Amino acid sequence: MRWLAATAGFVLVAAAPPQDVALKELMPKGMVVGVAINQRQFEGTDAAAVEIITKQFNQISPENALKFQPTQPAADRYTFDAADKYVQFGVDRHMQVVGHNLVWHSQTGTWVFQGADGKPADRDTLLARMHDHIRTVVGRYKGKIDGWDVVNEAIDEDGSMRKSPWQAGIGDDYVAKAFEFAHEADPNVELYYNDFNLEKPAKRAGVIKLVKDLQARKLRIDGIGNQAHWRLETPTLDEIDTSLVELHATGLKVMYTELDINLLPNTPRGADPAVANPYAAGLPDELQQQLARRYADVFRVFLKHRDAVTRVTFWGLSDADSWLNRGRANYPLLWDRERRPKPAFDAVVQVLRGAK
Ligand code: G3I
Repeated sequence: MRWLAATAGFVLVAAAPPQDVALKELMPKGMVVGVAINQRQFEGTDAAAVEIITKQFNQISPENALKFQPTQPAADRYTFDAADKYVQFGVDRHMQVVGHNLVWHSQTGTWVFQGADGKPADRDTLLARMHDHIRTVVGRYKGKIDGWDVVNEAIDEDGSMRKSPWQAGIGDDYVAKAFEFAHEADPNVELYYNDFNLEKPAKRAGVIKLVKDLQARKLRIDGIGNQAHWRLETPTLDEIDTSLVELHATGLKVMYTELDINLLPNTPRGADPAVANPYAAGLPDELQQQLARRYADVFRVFLKHRDAVTRVTFWGLSDADSWLNRGRANYPLLWDRERRPKPAFDAVVQVLRGAK
């Protein structure tokens, strides 16, 4: 018998031991649940993780393996060993396999943006490099990858186009060109625009303007990825709900693509470790329960809009794997460092079961 600290009081839950419960079997029809996986996981060296990933999820995303730099470190050199293993990991398990990402201002070699004379590459050169990259990478996984984050993080916080090297070198239509090239390379693959802070009205308005421009150009786009790097209190449930409704009003699928709940304060470099890394020795139970309630609450919003939300992907499997550690001890996910399910896992199971 396990007790869960629900939003109001205690609930006695006659649930099966955690390992018997699989999130993928509890998700509503039409909504997949996934996880971003790293090299040790898709190469199988992290056996404990592989077992949980295979049991719990029916979708995967590549935390880093399919980004520009790792797949094309130089103009004349593609390296697909890791990416091939990532894709095969998903194909072998009949999972929905997502590609992340084709065009982004980060993890892209500086050579991409440099012209022959060391000056910034001109529009035609940059377009040709983007076209070659997309044709080569999307073409390689045709029929194996189900959907691509074509462009990642092109909109700034005020809703304007982010001043990225792609935008500077090609112009605002670099996004449209990327979607055109991706569809050309694989006419059957789903195409997504992916970004964060979409609960902020100005940024969301910028993203909606961008996707409506793609639709007006008659370019294929299937969904909007909301990264959902959230905290315990922010964004509010109302902000999440409003954002979801407005994004879905574009007629596109809404996906939560990089979900995690950051429990650590933003502290300046060199801050007192007791302040910067307050839970190095472990997470207080009260915070475990707050995290469980937060995950339960956001999943209720996803389920309320199950007609709109087609995917929820966690950005990492366990607290040990999370990018949010960065030399500190963070606890943003459903499994702990020993790969044991946390109260947050039970809380999500409870909500999904309640919705069945
Ligand atoms: O592979 C190199 C390795 O050879 C080298 O020894 C090591 C030491 O520097 O670095 C390794 O590369 C690191 C890479 O992760 C793989 O582990 C990069 O330094 C590191 O910056 C990179 O971090 C990734 C980050 O994107 C880069 O911006 C995180 O793992 C990844 O979780 C994060 O994911 C992004 C999404 O793609 C987009 N949305 C935000 C999200 C979080 O930043």
